[in-house]
Amino acid sequence: MNQDELKRAAARAALDELVDGAIVGVGSGSTVNFFIDYLGERRERIAGAVSSSEKSSARLRERGIEVLELNDVVAAGRPIPVYVDGADEIDTGLRMIKGGGGALTREKIVAAASGCFVCIVDASKLVERLGAFPLPVEVIPMARELVASRLRELGGRPVERAGFVTDNGNLILDVAGLGIDDPVAMETRINQWPGVVTVGLFASRPADVVLIAKPDGIERRP
Ligand code: 5RP
Repeated sequence: MNQDELKRAAARAALDELVDGAIVGVGSGSTVNFFIDYLGERRERIAGAVSSSEKSSARLRERGIEVLELNDVVAAGRPIPVYVDGADEIDTGLRMIKGGGGALTREKIVAAASGCFVCIVDASKLVERLGAFPLPVEVIPMARELVASRLRELGGRPVERAGFVTDNGNLILDVAGLGIDDPVAMETRINQWPGVVTVGLFASRPADVVLIAKPDGIERRP
């Protein structure tokens, strides 16, 4: 199986995690795109979706799925029992690096508003220690150099993502070279810096379930 076939298999497996009649939280990225395609085939069994990016929203609508505003859903006290999203890396504690597609801020928001975080990955995303994948950090444009200098003090090598603007109008610094021994501490620390919107460490709130697609089938953890 190639990587796309594995991503598709993980996406297909996530259908079994959904709650019939409920709103679904939907992440972003190529693995989630496969999930949205499957979701379109069972759209009558869900009450709509809350989306984490403009790209995912467009794909959901193309497949006839109603995209609901998170503010409306929360104000109405409607639950989002399951959030489905991919990851760039995931460790054995189900802590993740996310943001390869630049949607990390809205992903973190929708995940926070949801019940069970179901992460869908192919086996290449499994790591012992987070940080081989450059850590994305969404930054307010005027704070770019301030935040970059602090990331260098941590031992990182930040590079601005060329030609990219987030759905929130900000930029992304991709930070190579960080040794992430304590993901929660690093997430907490970087999040506190003025100018940082979101750091792509999802460690304080890790995934609840990961579905790992391997050539011999789906592994569900824990
Ligand atoms: C987007 C993300 C994605 O979930 C992550 O980049 C994985 O993407 P893909 O499924 O394409 O490998 O965090 O911001």
